[in-house]
Amino acid sequence: MSEHYDVIVIGGGPAGYPAAIRAGQNGLKVACIDGWKNYDGSTTFGGTCLNAGCIPSKILLESSELYHRAHTEFATHGIKTGEVSIDIAAMQKRKSGIVKTMTLGIVGLLKAAGVTALQGRGTLLPGRQVEFVAHDGTRKTLSATHVVLASGSVPTPLKSAPFDGKHIVDSWGALEFDAVPKRLGVIGAGVIGLELGSVWRRLGAEVVVLEAMPEFLSIADQQLAKEALKQFGKQGLDVRLGAKVTGAAVKKNAVEVSYSDAKGATQSLTVDKLIVCIGRRPYTEGLLAEGTGVSVDARGFIEVDDHCHTGAENVWAVGDCVRGPMLAHKGKEEGVAVADRIAGRHAHVNYAVIPSVIYTAPEIGWVGQTEEQVKASGVAYKIGVFPFMASGRARAMEAAQGFAKLVIGRDDDRILGVHVIGPMAGELIAEAVLALEYGASAEDLQHTIHAHPTLSEALHEAALAADKRAIDMPNR
Ligand code: FAD
Ligand code: NAI
Repeated sequence: MSEHYDVIVIGGGPAGYPAAIRAGQNGLKVACIDGWKNYDGSTTFGGTCLNAGCIPSKILLESSELYHRAHTEFATHGIKTGEVSIDIAAMQKRKSGIVKTMTLGIVGLLKAAGVTALQGRGTLLPGRQVEFVAHDGTRKTLSATHVVLASGSVPTPLKSAPFDGKHIVDSWGALEFDAVPKRLGVIGAGVIGLELGSVWRRLGAEVVVLEAMPEFLSIADQQLAKEALKQFGKQGLDVRLGAKVTGAAVKKNAVEVSYSDAKGATQSLTVDKLIVCIGRRPYTEGLLAEGTGVSVDARGFIEVDDHCHTGAENVWAVGDCVRGPMLAHKGKEEGVAVADRIAGRHAHVNYAVIPSVIYTAPEIGWVGQTEEQVKASGVAYKIGVFPFMASGRARAMEAAQGFAKLVIGRDDDRILGVHVIGPMAGELIAEAVLALEYGASAEDLQHTIHAHPTLSEALHEAALAADKRAIDMPNR
């Protein structure tokens, strides 16, 4: 007889491990299989997010921002330093240490929830059998009442600039550089391109970002995107829009990139390292045997309904391997919701209220609809904008760039979208998420007392500004 579980989760990233923990909390017998392998061969839980994504990138953003501020801002505060320099090995060692602590933490959390953690590969067989191959090659067949697929995603390769792991790298490679490249090329001005481009720019690299689209950050509110492009330009990020890469060849320890520019003219660029970050694609290699009844769409996503059910009896899928934004918090909510559904509890994921954050400086955060989306929907709307220039706290922080913007229904006063570019936008957006979740009106926000002096006052004032009642700036 095969080993039987109530729930087997395949994938231990931010979608899979929360599903396993919640299923364990719900009193079920659970196994979580994860096959992650690091460059050094070590194996661990946490998936892309902890090992090669959210966490290491935020650690390097923090280190590089401190370094940059020490150079550019300390003197303004009257702080005198000797020569400030960066020790990349020490910076990377700190990063690895935090990642190790956090991934070990997940192993501890799985254990505390009574989950059996299995390291190796899992393949779903028909009838909810799961073939498990441990990293040492040992095989066994398990069975489960429910299976949750959470196999995640991998970087999308670019034919004209194939990864070589040394000069032409993906985002993981770009988190592991052991020296600051003098000249860095980035293909794709998306979230990864902007975050990792910022890291190495702050540390001294000359950074050119080649973006295929004619518009910058087309997924964001365009007023915010314009401000972002202006700020990044000031920081020396050379973003070239409408750039179509036609080839990249490694010659004499450098990469020669050819591309056609927005006017169609052929251009070339020589860099020491090239990061290709043009999006990610779902990863399902070796996950599904024949005859499981689980379908994969033309783009490689596992097909699911609104409740993350695949259509094959008691087989669910969550996170980056299914439709929707490829974000850790989206995957986490799906994983937890599925585990609750399995236990017969009520669960809900509000896909209309998922925050997006880009952890650059200034930070960018938004939730709900952009002004362009509201306009296209035909709904009458009003706008409230408050600049951080008028925020005492932002000025104290020497970070008075950007603004908070609210898009509000004109007829019902309901907040439809909130867009922030400025200090700690990723934290500020949490209030907006709550406002949208509860269907708040601008008036609700106007009547909510915000501590002074805080950055969050910008949201309060933006709500007031929508009705020309802002106090801390002239109303136009
Ligand atoms: P993953 O994290 O990819 O985990 C899937 C796991 O399943 C992996 O460990 C994989 O090895 C394992 N697996 C796959 N197939 C099998 C199998 N057959 N058997 C066993 N194991 C298997 N998102 C944010 O929300 N905020 C951020 O700040 C952020 N920053 C990012 C920065 C970078 C550089 C990158 C690359 C991504 C970032 N993301 C961020 C996106 C985020 O990492 C993903 O959305 C998230 O990791 C998806 O979670 P997941 O569990 O679906 O997949
Ligand atoms: P992305 O989708 O954010 O950006 C990719 C960019 O590359 C787009 O602007 C696109 O127009 C451009 N592009 C596509 N093909 C191109 C080509 N051939 N040449 C030039 N440009 C091209 O994808 P990215 O940055 O790779 O990130 C992958 C995923 O990881 C995203 O979906 C994101 O949600 C997630 N992520 C989230 C973070 C966060 O929440 N802060 C941080 C990093 C990643």
